[in-house]
Amino acid sequence: MIQTTDPETETVVVETRDRPDGVRVVTLNNPPVNAISSAMRRQLRDTMLEIDADDSVKGVVLTGAGRAFIAGADIREFGKPNPPGAPSLTAGVHAVEDCNKTVVAAVNGAAAGGGLEVALGCHYRVAGPKARLGLPEVNLGTIPGATGTQRLPRLTGLKSALDMIVSGDLVSAARALELGIIEAIEDDPVEAAAAIALARPPKKLREDDSKIGEIPDGFFDDYKKGMARRWRGFEARFKAVDAVAKIVLPYDEAVEAERAVFRECQGTPEARAMRHVFFSDRQAARHPSIPKDTPAGTVEKAAVLGCGTMGGGIAMNFANAGIPVTVLETSEEALERGLGIIRDNYAGTVSRGRLSQEAMDRRMALITGASDYAELADADIVIEAVFENMDIKKQVFGTLDSVCKDGAVLATNTSTLDVDEIADATSRPEAVVGTHFFSPANVMRLIEIVRGAKTSDETAQTAMKMAPKIGKVGVMCGVCDGFVGNRMLYQYSRQANFLIEEGALPQDVDRVMFEFGLPMGPFAMGDLAGVDVGYLVRQERIKKLGRTNKRESTVADKIYHLGRYGQKTRKGWYDYEPGSRTPKPNAEVTALIEKASADLGIERRDVSDDEILERCLYPLINEGAKLLAEGIAARPLDIDLIWIYGYGFPRYRGGPMHWADEIGPAHVLERLEHYAATRDSDWLEPATLLREVAGQGTTFREWAAAR
Ligand code: 3HC
Ligand code: NAI
Repeated sequence: MIQTTDPETETVVVETRDRPDGVRVVTLNNPPVNAISSAMRRQLRDTMLEIDADDSVKGVVLTGAGRAFIAGADIREFGKPNPPGAPSLTAGVHAVEDCNKTVVAAVNGAAAGGGLEVALGCHYRVAGPKARLGLPEVNLGTIPGATGTQRLPRLTGLKSALDMIVSGDLVSAARALELGIIEAIEDDPVEAAAAIALARPPKKLREDDSKIGEIPDGFFDDYKKGMARRWRGFEARFKAVDAVAKIVLPYDEAVEAERAVFRECQGTPEARAMRHVFFSDRQAARHPSIPKDTPAGTVEKAAVLGCGTMGGGIAMNFANAGIPVTVLETSEEALERGLGIIRDNYAGTVSRGRLSQEAMDRRMALITGASDYAELADADIVIEAVFENMDIKKQVFGTLDSVCKDGAVLATNTSTLDVDEIADATSRPEAVVGTHFFSPANVMRLIEIVRGAKTSDETAQTAMKMAPKIGKVGVMCGVCDGFVGNRMLYQYSRQANFLIEEGALPQDVDRVMFEFGLPMGPFAMGDLAGVDVGYLVRQERIKKLGRTNKRESTVADKIYHLGRYGQKTRKGWYDYEPGSRTPKPNAEVTALIEKASADLGIERRDVSDDEILERCLYPLINEGAKLLAEGIAARPLDIDLIWIYGYGFPRYRGGPMHWADEIGPAHVLERLEHYAATRDSDWLEPATLLREVAGQGTTFREWAAAR
C-alpha cells in the first residue's frame, strides 16, 4: 500500500492499493463519512499527480472507506482560514479529471456536495445499491463550490440539475441511473469500476455541452419565480440558480464565478444559521441528561389512546413507518369516526398522487381498532391522547399500569397538564414520559419529549430513539406549564395582543412576522387553530393558575364572543371567502379593536414595524433564557429546534436563541429595557440569564459551551 502523508497532521486520509490488473484503487478514508478536510484535498491532488507520472498504473478507481463515499467538504472547517498549501477542492476535481489514466468513481455510499463533485470529476461513475447522490450545499446556506453547478447540468440537463441543486436532496442510486449521473448500479462497485477503468478512455465532462442545448429566453428567471414561494428567504438557493446560469460562459469563467459566490456565502447569517441547524439536528438526539450507553427499548408494536384530532395523526405516524398500532376509543362510534378521518386523510393523499392505493391499504391494515384495554397488553409504547383533563388522564394511566407489559413506555400527549402528576397515577412513574406532538400530528415534525422527575434513562432513550423511526424530530425538555414551545409562544402572543390595543392592527403584526420568515403571524395562526380553542385554553389557564395580577389583553375574548372562531366559521380575526384560506381584514374587527383601546384609555399611535418585531420576538427569547436557567431546556439548540420544527421559525435564521446570538443578547436586553420603561403594557422582567449573558458580552451558545 502506498500512503500519501499529510505534512502537517501526518494523518493518512487518502490510501492507495495496486491491484494485479494494474488498476490503482484510491480510497478516501476519513471516518465516519469521509468529509473532505484540507488534508484530504492536498493528498488527493498529490495522489493524482503521482498516478499521472506512474506508467505502471493502467486505470484508477476512486472510492470511500466505510459507509459513505464522501460526505462533501468538512463543514467544521467552514468559516476558518484555508491552511497554507491546501489546494481548493476545485483544483482537486480538476486534478482527477486531468489524469491521463481513466478514473472511475465507485460510489459505495453517500456522495454529497463536494463528494459528488469529486465523482463528477471522474471520467465515469458506478454506484452501489445503497448509494445516495446529491448537492446539498444549499442546506448549509451555500452553493456547490467545486464545479458542481457547471458539471451536474452537463450530465442531467439543466432542469434536473436545478431541481437537485435547489432542493438539496440526495437521490437514490436508481434515480441517479435514470438521470444519467451513473453508468450502472453494482453490488461490488469497485470491481465494476475497475473493469470500466481498463476498458474505456478518459472522458472530460467539462468539454461536453451536448446536454445543455439551446436555453430558452427567461429560463432561469422563470425557474426562480417557480421556487419563490417554497424557498422564500433561502437566499443561497436563488444564488445557486444564478451560478448555474453562468453555464453560458466559458467553463473556466463560470467555475470561477461559482467559487466566488461559494466563498461569499460562507460568511452569511444564513450559512451560520443553517450550519447551526445541521449540527443541532444531530446533537439533539444526544441529550446530556441521558447517559451515552443507555439502551433503548424496541418499538415494534404501538398503541394510541383516543382517536381524535391528535390520536389519529399519531397513529398514522406509526403506520407510515410500518409499525403496527392499536387504537383504543371510548365507543365503537368514536372509533369508527376516528378511523374514518384517518382513511379520508390517506385517501386525500392518494387522490393528489402522493401515495399509491396499495401503500394506503398497507398502512390502514397496520391500524387496528380496540375497545378493550387487554388489547394493549403487548404494546411496546402506548401514547395517550384523550381529553385534556387530569382526572381522565389519571384514570387512564391507572388502567394502563394494570394491563401493560413490564418495560412498556407509557406516554402522554398532554399539552398543559403536569406529567409528574400523571406518572404518579401509576406504580411505575419511571416508565412514564411526555410525547408532545404538534398539530397536525401526521405532518408536523416535532415531538417535545417531556422528561418527568421520575422518568428513567431507558424510558427517555426509547422515546428519543422512537422519534426518527416515525419520521419525527424528538427534542427533550423538562416539565413546566406549556413546556418549552408553548411557554415561549405565550409571551409572543401576549405582546401581539398588546400591540393591537396600542395602535397596530392584526394585519400589521402578521405582515411583519411573515416578512421575518414565519409561515404566518399570530392572528392568522389564531384563526387557523381556532379562536374558540384559544379562548378555552385561556379559561383553563385561569382555572389552573388563578387570575394573575399580570394584565391580559381582552380583545381575543371579544372576538370569540362575536362567534368569530376563525377559518372554520370563515370569520375570526379576518374574513375568509368560501374555499379560501386567504385572510381579509374586516372593518368590524378594526372597530372592535379601536373601541377596546378607547375603553382602556389608550390613545392609539403608529406602531413601527421594528417595534412589532422586537416586542413579539424579544420576550420570546427572554422566556427561552428563563427556560435555560431553569434547566427545562438543556441547551439553546434544543429551543431552536423546537421552534423550527414545531412553529415554522425560519430555518435560515437558526431558531430564536441562535438568532438572539446573531443580533446580540446585549441588544435584546437593551430593547427589552427600553420597552419596559416606555410602554404601558404589562412588561416582562428581563431574565437573569439574559442579563448575565448580555453583561458578559457573550452569547447563549458560548454560555452553553462553557457549562
Ligand atoms: N463535514 C463534517 N462533518 C460531517 C459532514 C461534513 N460534510 N457530514 C457529516 N458529518 C458528521 C456529522 O456531523 C456526524 O457527526 P456526529 O456523529 O459527531 O454527530 C457524523 O459525520 C455522521 O453523520 P450522519 O449522522 O449525518 O451520518 P449518516 O450516515 O446518517 O449520513 C450523510 C451521511 C448523508 C453524508 C450526511 O452526513 C450528510 O448529509 N452530510 C452533509 C452533507 C453535506 O451537506 N455536504 C455538503 C458539504 S458543503 C460542500 O461539499 C461544499 C463543496 O461544494 C465545495
Ligand atoms: P380530541 O377531543 O380531538 O380527541 C380526544 C379523543 O379521546 C376523543 O376522540 C375521545 O373520544 C377520546 N377519549 C376520551 N376519553 C377517552 C378514554 N378514556 N379512553 C380512550 N379514548 C378517550 O382531542 P385532541 O385535540 O386530539 O387532544 C388530545 C390530547 O392531545 C389532549 O391531551 C390535548 O391537550 C393534546 N394535544 C392537542 C393538540 C391539538 O392541537 N389539538 C396539540 C398537542 C397536544
